Amino acid sequence: MEYAKNILDTIGDTPLVKINRLTTELPCLVLAKYETFNPGNSVKDRMALKMIEDAESSGLIKPGGTIVEGTSGNTGMGLALAATVKGYRLICVTTDKQSKEKVDILKAMGSEVHICPTDVAPDDPRSYYSTARRLAEEIPNAWYVNQYDNPSNAKAHFESTGPEIWAQTQGAVTHFVVGVGTGGTISGVGRYLKSKNPNIKVWGVDTYGSVFKKYHETGIFDKNEIYPYVTEGIGEDILPKNVDFDIIDGFTKVTDKDAAVYTQRLAKEEAMFLGNSAGAAIKGVLQLKEHFKEDDLVVVLFHDHGSRYVAKMFNDDWMRQQGFLE
Ligand SMILES: Cc1ncc(COP(=O)(O)O)c(C=O)c1O
Repeated sequence: MEYAKNILDTIGDTPLVKINRLTTELPCLVLAKYETFNPGNSVKDRMALKMIEDAESSGLIKPGGTIVEGTSGNTGMGLALAATVKGYRLICVTTDKQSKEKVDILKAMGSEVHICPTDVAPDDPRSYYSTARRLAEEIPNAWYVNQYDNPSNAKAHFESTGPEIWAQTQGAVTHFVVGVGTGGTISGVGRYLKSKNPNIKVWGVDTYGSVFKKYHETGIFDKNEIYPYVTEGIGEDILPKNVDFDIIDGFTKVTDKDAAVYTQRLAKEEAMFLGNSAGAAIKGVLQLKEHFKEDDLVVVLFHDHGSRYVAKMFNDDWMRQQGFLE
């Protein structure tokens, strides 16, 4: 018999899938690391489990404890899987910008959810960063995960996602392209791939309204770069410790409209029902066209599943209201 001992055992070992129609203008092969095959439907299952396991080993979380995290949904889902299997209480703190589906899914998985305003500064006591920190201080035997600065986040990708991509491409990968939020995925995968072959190029996909690209290019944290945007999961108004700017070769910024339109195109033209950051990521790959040669092998990572966006990027009325569809 072959079976997993529990659902956590099914995390990882996701497929690489060729992109066929959307990348015909590129000279090279483009493969998607297809992370919706994880049990929580996103790449975040990997780091959520790793962060909890490392917190257990170092005594930060004890049996019967409470896990508190600020999350837009996918990390919360991963934490919920692990919290349920391992018997912890979970409180997720999120923002009013996130899709209702993400919040409902977290509740369905047994998490308590606190919703905070999006358009306040990170150090404002109402922000989701501050609220998560405060709850973890107030609740006895609680642990604040802090995916932004927790090194186990990037480590999960160094230990699993990176080695999988290296093995699946038999070391032939030349470029890795991925959306950047906490930075865990790009830093962990990028560090692993560059440890195997320092010539591999690592590109981050950023949003308009986020600080990453300018900071990477100039070293300046420019507050004028910060404004509300629609794209979910990528871009930040802070510099998370998990973003290792030294292993990133460059950033490309994708507009909210392009990210949304390409999320729809992935579904309609590739039969890939994916989240909004996948649309941004594939558009980012197309924007980097001039960097690719015929023999290159580009791996782009798709973070999460389309079901979380049915009221937004997959709803044409919403798309029209945003001015994303004629
Ligand atoms: C949908 C989605 N895309 C992209 C990202 C960015 O990944 P990372 O935080 O590893 O940089 C996240 C993480 O929050 C996400 O939820």
